[in-house]
Amino acid sequence: MAGVMDNPMERTAASAAVPFYTPTGNEVALFEHAYRNRLPLLLKGPTGCGKTRFVSHMAARLGRSIHTVSCHDDLTAADLTGRYLLKGGDTVWVDGPLTRAVREGAICYLDEVVEARKDVTVVLHPLTDDRRLLPLERTGELLDAPPEFMLVVSYNPGYQNILKSLKPSTRQRFVAIEFGFPLPDIETAIVTQESGLPRERVAPLVRLGNALRDLKGQDLEEGVSTRLLVYCATLIHSGMKSEEAILAAMIEPLTDDVEVKKALLRVVELTLG
Ligand SMILES: Nc1ncnc2c1ncn2[C@@H]1O[C@H](COP(=O)(O)OP(=O)(O)OP(=O)(O)O)[C@@H](O)[C@H]1O
Ligand SMILES: [Mg+2]
Repeated sequence: MAGVMDNPMERTAASAAVPFYTPTGNEVALFEHAYRNRLPLLLKGPTGCGKTRFVSHMAARLGRSIHTVSCHDDLTAADLTGRYLLKGGDTVWVDGPLTRAVREGAICYLDEVVEARKDVTVVLHPLTDDRRLLPLERTGELLDAPPEFMLVVSYNPGYQNILKSLKPSTRQRFVAIEFGFPLPDIETAIVTQESGLPRERVAPLVRLGNALRDLKGQDLEEGVSTRLLVYCATLIHSGMKSEEAILAAMIEPLTDDVEVKKALLRVVELTLG
């Protein structure tokens, strides 16, 4: 470890290969345990808190490729598993991302999984219990998932209505981690690294972010995300005035309501003076 940190060339190579991710709890160890024990993993948490980055980071650490699917309510089981397509007069079977991940021993990442219809998520059932099987009815194959295959799903519990939750028989097939926003020191380090803005200029933005998050629930559906803090710091680092960057990255994306916007701007004034 010390050797890697001592040699800037190696450090560059390592950081190029593994996307930057700062842990906020025991999620790295939990992911590794789940992977080693062939357990599927469910990540839940608000928008922009690092779920997708975490999965990319872990996939690179474990040397696995990722097949990502953004779920929506028109997604069909065939979109996941595959279908016969016409190619130059022939009908050929084309694997979907889930099937590809099973065949290759890769990570399949289903983002916003609650958006998928329940009859679609049922396709995951034999894969996510101790059978680890993917039946492909159309081709008559029964794929046995190799040990390197892992299914990871994520969603944001916040803005979903109750009808969009997962079936208990689906969710109880996963080990789950709840993500929140990082503690201020960690978030400051993340935003500093991501934006290039000096730490002492990032710290007040993180303080403001936390003050704005306190309004969540009363006036706001979702608090300002780490993603938006990174945007704001990036705009400032690129030469924009702080007030303009804050308005564009930390206020406007949160609400369209004039009164709520005024309340947010008051928080900016009170926090940054
Ligand atoms: N722990 C972290 N380490 C490094 N970067 C982070 C971390 N948390 C958040 N980020 C930063 O925040 C950005 C948004 O994170 P990400 O895209 O992973 O969010 P998400 O939880 O997947 O959001 P969504 O639910 O909207 O898809 C990242 O691009 C990265 O810049
Ligand atoms: Mg994401």
